[in-house]
Amino acid sequence: MARMAIRPDVEALPAYRFKALDAAVKLDQNESPWDLPEPLRSRALERVARAELHRYPAMHADGVAERIAELERWPVEGVVVTNGSNVLIQAIVIAAGLGRRVLSVAPSFSLYALQARLLNAELREVPLAAGFALPLEALLSELDQGDGVHFLAAPMAPTGNAVSAEDVWTLARAGANGWLTVIDEAYGPFAASDFSSVVRDVPNTVSLRTFSKAFAMGGVRLGYALAAPDLAVHLRKAVLPFTVSALQAALVETVLEDPAYVRSRVDLIVAERERVGAALRDLPGIEVFPSVTNFLLVRVGDAAALHGALLARGIVVRRQDHLPGLAGCLRVSIGTPDENDALVAALTALTALAAQPGAAGAPAAAPERTEESHA
Ligand SMILES: Cc1ncc(COP(=O)(O)O)c(C=O)c1O
Repeated sequence: MARMAIRPDVEALPAYRFKALDAAVKLDQNESPWDLPEPLRSRALERVARAELHRYPAMHADGVAERIAELERWPVEGVVVTNGSNVLIQAIVIAAGLGRRVLSVAPSFSLYALQARLLNAELREVPLAAGFALPLEALLSELDQGDGVHFLAAPMAPTGNAVSAEDVWTLARAGANGWLTVIDEAYGPFAASDFSSVVRDVPNTVSLRTFSKAFAMGGVRLGYALAAPDLAVHLRKAVLPFTVSALQAALVETVLEDPAYVRSRVDLIVAERERVGAALRDLPGIEVFPSVTNFLLVRVGDAAALHGALLARGIVVRRQDHLPGLAGCLRVSIGTPDENDALVAALTALTALAAQPGAAGAPAAAPERTEESHA
């Protein structure tokens, strides 16, 4: 038999796990529940129809970078645009983590650890403290030695809690000599937080942003980094040329001409998050953790059974109970008001069933297909 050509450490690596589940109410990927508003959507598609398909696009989505620079009031030379911020996570590990260290808390966004392992960086994961607080002292002592990349999701994911500005400044300053501090602000718009001032003031820091959440463009795949221009030059070397297509650029450039929809929708999602959180806190057997994002982390006891029971009622949420410290947890994206009503009604019924005398404790009516969906 032929010897396996894949590196043994890659062979042993788990793949990014996500199972798409069909359901009428989709609350499993922290997406926007609404597509782009009309007439903006039609205008963007008209621009796509006019794209020159036989030509290569700009090497690093330069037109998109210019629009982002205006939006963010950031020097265009410091804007790095890629196919989703995932791609930047990989580029950053290539440019600053390979053969060095990758530091993050656990649990955190799973891609940091996956890319560290894939690219042979030494992974250092520090468990979150009680209440999902940042383990500040432990992180500072890690930053005291070695060099590499420190991924800090702010707000945190998948726990959904805020990171204090004081902690972000402290950690960025502590790592400034040898560590690249990556402030992942994927959910920043829902927390009304913006750590670009840290990137402006502290060397070796980067802010990651995405069009997948607040901008309602998860299907388009576009993300970007804000960095100092002299750092961005090197990050771009780790991003393949021509990787953002002319079609993506046409869509995003149009949307950036008129991004006013983002603010009003974020406000609605935030109001819904508070409403759903309050309703779920009233239910027996459900613990709702504080969130400043577009999702809620909830502890329900038997996460597998409840995930299955919700799926049987046409609602898909995400299991998180495989992650350290998140036993019994599910993650629920905030949807449209109707979708959120459906979730609250289903959980109200299921928790009432579970609370009946003689019930096993877990919500009843688990269906045959209790498939997992991990990320
Ligand atoms: C914390 C965090 N960072 C980055 C991403 C990736 O975003 P993108 O769609 O831009 O690749 C996600 C996606 O869920 C996320 O949760």
